[in-house]
Amino acid sequence: MAIIFDQVNSVFTLQTSHSMYQMKVDEHGVLLHTYYGRKGIPFDYSYLITYADHGFSGNPYDVGDNRLYSLDALPQEYPVYGSGDYRSTALKVQYADGAGGCELRYVRHEIREGKYSLPGLPALYDSPGTAAHTLVITLEDSRKVFYVHLYYGVMENLDLITRSVCVENRGGDPLYLEQISSVCVDFQHGDYDLHTFWGRHLKERTYQRTPVTYGTQAIGSTRGASSHQHNPFFLLTSRQASEDTGDCYGFSFLYSGDFLAAAHKDQYSQTRVLMGIHPDNFRYCLYKGDCFYAPEAAMAYSGQGMNALSQIYHKAYRHNLCRGAYKTARRPILLNSWEGVYFDFNAEKLMNMARKAAQLGIELFVLDDGWFGKRSQDISGLGDWYVNENKLGCGLKELSDEIHALGMQFGIWFEPECVNEDSDLYREHPDWALKVPGKAPTRSRYQLVLDFSREDVREHIFGKICQVLDSAQIEYLKWDFNRSISDIYSAKLPPKRQGETAHRYILGLYDMLEKLTARYPNLLLEGCSGGGGRFDAGMLYYTPQIWCSDDTDAIERLSIQYGTSFGYPISTAGAHVSHCPNEQTGRMVPLETRAAVAMAGTFGYELDPGKITKTDRLVIQKQIKEFQKYYDLIQDGLYYRLTNPDDYPSYHGWEFVKEDGSEALLCIVALHVQPNASRCCMKLKGLKEDKIYLIDGVKYPGSALMHGGYLIPHAKVEYESFRIHVTEWVE
Ligand code: DGJ
Repeated sequence: MAIIFDQVNSVFTLQTSHSMYQMKVDEHGVLLHTYYGRKGIPFDYSYLITYADHGFSGNPYDVGDNRLYSLDALPQEYPVYGSGDYRSTALKVQYADGAGGCELRYVRHEIREGKYSLPGLPALYDSPGTAAHTLVITLEDSRKVFYVHLYYGVMENLDLITRSVCVENRGGDPLYLEQISSVCVDFQHGDYDLHTFWGRHLKERTYQRTPVTYGTQAIGSTRGASSHQHNPFFLLTSRQASEDTGDCYGFSFLYSGDFLAAAHKDQYSQTRVLMGIHPDNFRYCLYKGDCFYAPEAAMAYSGQGMNALSQIYHKAYRHNLCRGAYKTARRPILLNSWEGVYFDFNAEKLMNMARKAAQLGIELFVLDDGWFGKRSQDISGLGDWYVNENKLGCGLKELSDEIHALGMQFGIWFEPECVNEDSDLYREHPDWALKVPGKAPTRSRYQLVLDFSREDVREHIFGKICQVLDSAQIEYLKWDFNRSISDIYSAKLPPKRQGETAHRYILGLYDMLEKLTARYPNLLLEGCSGGGGRFDAGMLYYTPQIWCSDDTDAIERLSIQYGTSFGYPISTAGAHVSHCPNEQTGRMVPLETRAAVAMAGTFGYELDPGKITKTDRLVIQKQIKEFQKYYDLIQDGLYYRLTNPDDYPSYHGWEFVKEDGSEALLCIVALHVQPNASRCCMKLKGLKEDKIYLIDGVKYPGSALMHGGYLIPHAKVEYESFRIHVTEWVE
């Protein structure tokens, strides 16, 4: 049983295959956090707590004259604002009379089989063999106005624990939630490093490692989307942890809106980590009987370094978060029209591209932005989801039929959440855009954001999308979102509910995506937000792949995809081969290397195949065959990071290994070609020590390849790449 309750000591022990998490209800009814880390014998870890008379750290009234007991110093499971705990806290409420302080005490708990789900929110789900259980611990506030139900999903065989929180108003008066974290963990002892993933448009999820210092280090987003700037995923590790060694904890938020994640090192050198909805644009009103569910967070622990931690998330997200026909089904190799022709196309031009693409072996043709409304550039047309037949020169069905006749599938781009002022939709419904009264809205890419918290707005857009999807054979939809949200005010909500707009927007987005996936179960959805501005675990519940970045430069992509790999599987990262010189950087990279990098993702092309040479066409045909050959190994294999491209290695490497260790694909890109230098020696990972492997007909023991390494051929040109296939030798 993955959840053990020791009644004598009031201790909850949660166990996964390799981790253990523990809480204890103490004699005052306070839920303490006592342990998180390597799995061991279930034992009351509260012996590790220091009780001391701390100056300026007060004592709750109900502990009497015990000056050794302070909520300001104790490791707590769900600390609340106004309880005498001056650290960053997980929950802040305001009662109807304006008061804010409260304390929480244990009431009851429930353990049940299976994994809980959350109304209207993404959540990991169990499947045969997951061995999932749910624990719900209920706490109540001192005034007995509300309950806090703490949810734990213990997914034993996935090695992962999920968390959510439900606040239930039991009283007669409204209650205001001002801040709510989905996860909070107190680490009493030890020094830690915080690993986060920062970025900007065209440079998402850049890896950063810093020591946790005294005070609060926070990342987050108030952009209405999880953002390019900070990803809602972070690691906390021991100071010594590496890719292969040390204690590592992962915290991933299944949410696509504003978030706040923080590490707080307190005066007693304890570290508290928290993650939840960002409080800046959040104030939620609960009436009697109302429940608020906080988005889910997924925590994982590895005692064997960061790579093993990533592999926990890769497996869980691929198999127990992503859904739909394409969760594990082979995804088609696509050609996206965007960088090839941008807005400048008609059906003839597209068909020329499609014919050439089909000859290359491409399986899906995607028509990106520009096929609808009055859209010849990004200043107009957004919101008018009807086909611009004048521009195309035919209907969508005709185009789709012709593409299917070439043996390819057909896909299309939408940006359902936004609108140009120069559009029929906006002229008819100017009040459908988010706008703050008395203030002109902030424009971004000449567009405004539709109020997706409103059902009527969503229904209209959903109807239009369905009309298009039903009008032709369409197997793929790219759901884009090209700006940050500002002007958060919904014309439909009363003043006291305005603080709910940003969260209701995300709930509305999820509602629409849920309806879309239910109505079109075989549609392949690709998420996108100006590249990877909404690359998060919440979106992956609806879209099994997300366009990783608008930066298609293969060398830039090494860092972006490296950062992405910490929290997300290869099968989710949209990656394409584009023209050179690269559109974003002007850099020249060999076509082989562009493909090698895109193969560490969903793999596709983003160019005009009419503009490539005969030689390159042959190279592309070979690449496509090769990707198909390695598809299972790449998408289902274990992924290993071998170097950090931001550490300026001369050769950057990564590796895919079949789960049983019998086959591997080693991928290398030369970043710095040096004449007269020693050859690069790359140590492989994940092989079987005592087995023999073949590389180009030469035999090597697994132990030699992993501990001695493999000599990479000398690169002769800048950014040359090598793909080295390793197979177990069987007599
Ligand atoms: C941003 C996306 O990331 C691009 O791939 C492309 O779809 C454009 N939007 C179209 O406007």
